[in-house]
Amino acid sequence: MKILMVCLGNICRSPLAEGILSKHLTSLHLPHQIDSAGTINYHSGSAPDPRSIQVAADHGIDISNLSARQVSKNDFEKFDFIFAMDRNNYKDLISLSTREQHTRIHLFLEFAGLGQQDVPDPYYGNKRHFEEVFELLDKASINVSNKLLNNSTM
Ligand code: 4NP
Repeated sequence: MKILMVCLGNICRSPLAEGILSKHLTSLHLPHQIDSAGTINYHSGSAPDPRSIQVAADHGIDISNLSARQVSKNDFEKFDFIFAMDRNNYKDLISLSTREQHTRIHLFLEFAGLGQQDVPDPYYGNKRHFEEVFELLDKASINVSNKLLNNSTM
């Protein structure tokens, strides 16, 4: 299955989400392609934020080789699951896609069944905010990877 993680800049939350979810899908032996993108092009070509790279590395995940890009119309054809990090990203994705493509777009934490909708943007925060985002994405990714495993064996 093909999965796309989406946030605003594609440098803080979605590259982290990509690395974390990929780790959990791999440990469940679930074949997948995963990528991430941003709704804005401002950081296109940049590596993830150094604080995201660091918190991932602290937990044994290497995201240093990822490169930011903007969401494109083609993504709505290519990916089976498109996960938005917050409600603004979700709204932007809905307005960029056709009605038929809307079923592929989900709010990540809602799909994970967590009682929270938005992954808070840590961009203007500090190391502690990045650690909190990591813990939230890890919890959500455990739920989502199990849900996708059940989907794929139905
Ligand atoms: P992200 O964080 O959406 O999690 O990658 C941000 C990155 C950059 C900006 C905002 C949020 N920015 O305003 O440039």
